[in-house]
Amino acid sequence: MSHIVIMEVLWPLIVLFSAGAAHSHKESPTRGLSCVNDFVRNVSCTWSGSPVAPGVDCWIHGTKQVWLFVYPRRDSRIIIRSCKLEPHESSPPGCRFAFENQDFNSFEYSNISLECDGKLLENLTMYKPHKHIKMNPPGVPAVHSTANETFISWSKGSPLSIFFTVLNFQVQIKLKKQMWKEVSHLSTQEQHLKIPGRQPKGHYQVRVRVSPGRHHSGHWSNWSPTTSWTITTRAR
Ligand SMILES: *[C@@H]1O[C@H](CO)[C@@H](O)[C@H](O)[C@H]1NC(C)=O
Ligand SMILES: *[C@@H]1O[C@H](CO)[C@@H](O)[C@H](O)[C@H]1NC(C)=O
Ligand SMILES: *[C@@H]1O[C@H](CO)[C@@H](O)[C@H](O)[C@H]1NC(C)=O
Ligand SMILES: *[C@@H]1O[C@H](CO)[C@@H](O)[C@H](O)[C@H]1NC(C)=O
Repeated sequence: MSHIVIMEVLWPLIVLFSAGAAHSHKESPTRGLSCVNDFVRNVSCTWSGSPVAPGVDCWIHGTKQVWLFVYPRRDSRIIIRSCKLEPHESSPPGCRFAFENQDFNSFEYSNISLECDGKLLENLTMYKPHKHIKMNPPGVPAVHSTANETFISWSKGSPLSIFFTVLNFQVQIKLKKQMWKEVSHLSTQEQHLKIPGRQPKGHYQVRVRVSPGRHHSGHWSNWSPTTSWTITTRAR
């Protein structure tokens, strides 16, 4: 576990420094079928291959090996979970399925396939869940702004894998009138951010996202809900 390090930044740096280095993690476009998972039990897949004609019945199937302990033996079997591919307005079609009460670990792999009207379109074999993690987004940030500091905190997001001991958060703070892409990311492994100094007047917004720390690779989560706050006077 990391030590308590208070992350300190200065107001002008937050809102003025625009993001040249704002690297966004894009999902690999190499395959038509791509799946991310929260490393707990949910798998979310999208299909960006050839468009699916309306009326065609497409299903994504995922397999998982589960272990059964029946004394004195340890047996395994393969379970299958499926979901029906749904169209989405502004993103490729997709769907998600869950392996209830069967948390993922770093050693397993699944076979995930897409079938349309009974015909196999793609088979993603040896899918390693720990290589494709997209965590659930953090909770709504809480903001406490006083005359000499602003303190922002958030929850981790849930469900959360017990295997994540270190989390990397990215925080974005902006003036309401700015675009998110104009502001840089502040990085921290803590669940809070303390910004000393008097906050200039304005309407502010903050949001947070998370990715697993060491040993796991994956994507950034979606952004948390946004919290807005207003600094009007410099009282207190
Ligand atoms: C995935 O497919 C491979 C090759 O057929 C098989 O050996 C393995 O047991 C399958 N694993 C799961 C979890 O379905
Ligand atoms: C996980 O999957 C289940 C079943 O598909 C769904 O009801 C639930 O909302 C999902 N949870 C998250 C956090 O996506
Ligand atoms: C996908 O490939 C694996 C490994 O070759 C195989 O075991 C599995 O049956 C295939 N899935 C489908 C739906 O054909
Ligand atoms: C914040 O400001 C108040 C009043 O000006 C002062 O009493 C207090 O010590 C300050 N706190 C910090 C952490 O600087």
